Amino acid sequence: MSTDKPVRVALLGCGAIAQAHLRAIAANPGVVEVAGIYDADRSRAEARATEFHVGHIYNTWHDVLAGNADVIAVLLPHDLHAKFAVEVLEAGHHVVVEKPLATTLAECDAILNAAAKAGKRAHPVHNRIYDPGTDAAREFITSGAIGDVFLAQTVGLEPPQTVSVRPWLGTKAGGGGVLMAQAVHPAYLLRWILGDLSEATSIAGTRKVLDMTSEDTAIAVYRFQQGAIAEMTGTFGMNVGPWNHRVTFYGPDGYVEICNREGVRGLSEKHFGDRDIHPLLPDLEWGTGFARMWADYAHGFRTGEPTRVSGLDGRAAVEMILAAYESSKTRRTIDFPLPA
Ligand SMILES: NC(=O)c1ccc[n+]([C@@H]2O[C@H](COP(=O)([O-])OP(=O)(O)OC[C@H]3O[C@@H](n4cnc5c(N)ncnc54)[C@H](O)[C@@H]3O)[C@@H](O)[C@H]2O)c1
Repeated sequence: MSTDKPVRVALLGCGAIAQAHLRAIAANPGVVEVAGIYDADRSRAEARATEFHVGHIYNTWHDVLAGNADVIAVLLPHDLHAKFAVEVLEAGHHVVVEKPLATTLAECDAILNAAAKAGKRAHPVHNRIYDPGTDAAREFITSGAIGDVFLAQTVGLEPPQTVSVRPWLGTKAGGGGVLMAQAVHPAYLLRWILGDLSEATSIAGTRKVLDMTSEDTAIAVYRFQQGAIAEMTGTFGMNVGPWNHRVTFYGPDGYVEICNREGVRGLSEKHFGDRDIHPLLPDLEWGTGFARMWADYAHGFRTGEPTRVSGLDGRAAVEMILAAYESSKTRRTIDFPLPA
């Protein structure tokens, strides 16, 4: 692939998240550009085309596959990810798949195998790995400011509206529940900082706030191979209160917290010379992760060099969620790796 021309991206699915991708691609002129967009609901594609000045709407999925895009982004309900991603790869394009990469390990493996066979790449959208706030927290940890992380906590509080505006998200197949749909974000973020997993335990709430097939509230607990433990809480049941996402890492010498409302804050006597909480990055620049992700992936497509996130990371995040579901179902602690 030419290293001096922008990577051409076709979008499959023009729903809510397509906006973040179109904005991110526009933020990378000369690096990535939109080849065209497609949605089964043409009015959605037309609305996005008008909003983002997209010059080409494909008429059919076959037209997308037969077109000249270098990469196709699959921005669809979860149960459609694997089917379409494999078709993209078999047609000779790279693929970027919204989170979760797929809903089972067999589907993840079908995507990874199709990529290997085609000599193409399959990347999940793990946008929070690319947030400036994640970099700030990771640098604080790797600088030794808080010592070796022994504990982490994540909280994802969202309102029922997250689900009600996307009816497929409330179904077991399409959405899969709050762990698969929402907590997969902190799951991949925990693994990015703490490394590979050794075990998982989880329970799902049964006092439902929403009418959705799978769980609307759950807690998962993980142990990492290097010894740290983490607790991850997620819900779509917050009828009132702010949309709140927080990840905190604790070490013997302090802690660092990434919060969508308060930015990144740290406490470290070693680093600051006092025991107060200090801002590390007041504004998370929420959303810039998508632009940084596309820049990294485009560089990988053009040069063949490694990227921060690979298809294997997509599979590992899905494995974390499936381990939690297995624990919830069997009321047992589940060891990693899960059987494929
Ligand atoms: N990374 C993030 O922060 C983030 C945030 C929100 C959603 N997402 C993910 O993005 C994906 C899509 O979510 P969304 O919020 O955009 O959903 P959405 O319901 O707003 O949009 C989905 C779109 O897909 C289209 N579609 C459905 N089936 C199709 C098919 N067979 N062919 C063509 N088009 C089809 C629908 O018409 C719709 O426009 C999901 O994987 C979701 O988890 C990620």
